[in-house]
Amino acid sequence: MPIDPSKPSTNTNGSPAPSDEYSLTVGADGPVLLHDAHLIDTLAHFNRENIPERKPHAKGSGAFGHFETTADVSEYTKAGFLQKGKETPMLARFSTVAGELGSPDTWRDVRGFSLKFYTDEGNFDMVGNNTPVFFMRDPMKFPHFIRSQKRLPNSGLRSPNMMYDYWSLSPESAHQVAYLMGPRGIPLSYRTMNGYSSHTYSWVNAEGKITWVKYHFISDQGVHTMTADQAKAVVGDHPDLHREDLFNHIADGDHPSWTVKVQLMPYDDAKDYRFNPFDITKVWPHKDYPLHTIGRFTLDRNPENFFAEIEQAAFSPSNTVEGTGLSPDRMLLSRAFAYNDAARNRLGVNYEQLPVNRPTVATNQYTFDGQMTYEHAGSAPTYAPNSYGRDHATGYRAGSEVTWETDGELVRAAQTLHSEDDDFGQAHTLVHDVFSEQERDELVETLVDLLTNFDMEEPVIGNTLTYWRNIDAGIADRVESTM
Ligand code: HEM
Repeated sequence: MPIDPSKPSTNTNGSPAPSDEYSLTVGADGPVLLHDAHLIDTLAHFNRENIPERKPHAKGSGAFGHFETTADVSEYTKAGFLQKGKETPMLARFSTVAGELGSPDTWRDVRGFSLKFYTDEGNFDMVGNNTPVFFMRDPMKFPHFIRSQKRLPNSGLRSPNMMYDYWSLSPESAHQVAYLMGPRGIPLSYRTMNGYSSHTYSWVNAEGKITWVKYHFISDQGVHTMTADQAKAVVGDHPDLHREDLFNHIADGDHPSWTVKVQLMPYDDAKDYRFNPFDITKVWPHKDYPLHTIGRFTLDRNPENFFAEIEQAAFSPSNTVEGTGLSPDRMLLSRAFAYNDAARNRLGVNYEQLPVNRPTVATNQYTFDGQMTYEHAGSAPTYAPNSYGRDHATGYRAGSEVTWETDGELVRAAQTLHSEDDDFGQAHTLVHDVFSEQERDELVETLVDLLTNFDMEEPVIGNTLTYWRNIDAGIADRVESTM
C-alpha cells in the first residue's frame, strides 16, 4: 500500500507505532531494550538514509515536463517521439560537475544538462552539458580529470593549482577551459543556460540511412550569466541559488522552456570534414552545418519528493530508441558503459525498476532477480529459447540499433587528425572572435584572480601562462603584466 501521511505512524510492518517520543525502557530511568524494534528500525534506517553521491555531477536539481516535436524530420529519423506533432513526457536534471552534494550552485564550473524522454518506444536519455565541447577526447583520461577538479589528497581542499596542473598538461582541454573561464562559466540560473549534446550522435531513417547529429537546447529565457564578483556576493546567503530559482519559478507557474535544434551532417561528410566530427573538443561551425529547429520542451512540474525522483534518477547515453544511436566518438561509446555501471553501484542492480527510471512501455528483459526486485514476470521462463510462450529476440532485428562501418587493427592511438584539427585553433576563435571586448577584460580578471589569490605555484603558473599563450597571446600578455 502507498504511504498515507494522514494516518498515525506505523511500525515498518504496518501495525500502529507504540510511540515516536519514548523508547521502551526498564522503568523510567532504566536501560533501553533490544526488542524495541521500533527504536532499532528508527536508528538503523537513519544510518542508511544516505546513498553514494554521483562521483561527478553530485549536486543537482530537476523537474518534469514535456517535449513536443514541431518539425518534420522523418527524412532523417524514424524515432516515434521525433515525428512532427508528437508530445512526450520528460524529466530534466541540471547539475554542477565538481562539487559535492551540499556545494554551492554558483562555483565556476560546467553544468550538467540531463534529459530523460519517456517515449512510447522506451526511454531516450540525452546526458549533455551547458557547453558544446569537453575537456578530453579519450575516456582513459576522464577519472584523472575529475580527480583533478575535486579535492587534494592530503588537506581535502579544492585546488586551482591542481585543476590547472591537469589542464595545462592536457592541451586538448583548451577549448573547454576557454569556454569555462569566459562569460558562460557561471550561469545566472539553470533556466538561463543552453544545453548541448556536445557529442555527435546518429539518427537513422526508415530506409536505414544514417545522419550524424548534434543537439542544441536553446533557453527561451535567454542566456544570462553572473560575473565572478556577483557569484561571490550571493553565495553566502544563497548557496542553493539555482535550485531555489528553478523550483520557485515552476511552483509560481513560470515554466521555463528550451527550443530544441539540431545540426545534421550527411554520413559521407564525416570522413573528410575539416574537423574530426567525432572529436568532442570541437564544434561544427554553424556556417558548415546550420541549426534546424525541431521542437521545444517545457518544465512544468516540480518533484514531489527530491530523493525519490531526482537523487535516484539514473541517466545514461546508452538509453537510445530506434531511429537514434551513438557514433564512433570513443568518449561516447565508453559512456554507454559508465552510467549504467554507476547506477548499479549508486542505486542497486534494479535501479531501472524505480518509478522515475522505469520505461512507460512494457518490458520483457532477460535480466533477473537481485536486490530489491519489484517487477518480475511471475512464473514465466527465465531462459530463452523456451517452449512456454515467453518471447525473445531471435536472429538479428535489423534497424533496432545504429551501426556503422569501421576498419583497422586493434591499436592504442590518438584519433585521426582531419585537415584543420589542432588543440588551440577553435579555443582561439572563441576568445578572439566570439567573446566581446568586455568579456575578454573579465577573462583577464578571472585568470589574474586564479593565478594570484589561490594555491597556484610553479611550475603550474608557468605552464598555465604558456597554455593561455597558445590560446591567445594577447590575453596571456595582459594576464602576465597584471599579476
Ligand atoms: C568518458 C567520459 C565520461 C565518463 C566516463 C563519465 C562518467 C560519468 C559518471 C560515472 C557519472 C555519474 C552517473 C551517476 O552516478 O548516475 C556522470 C554524470 C554525468 N555526466 Fe559524465 N562522464 C563522461 C563524460 C561526460 C560528457 C562528455 C558529458 C556531457 C557532454 C557528461 C555529462 C554528465 C552529466 C550531465 C552527468 C549527470 C547525470 C545526472 O544528471 O544524473 N559526462 N558521468
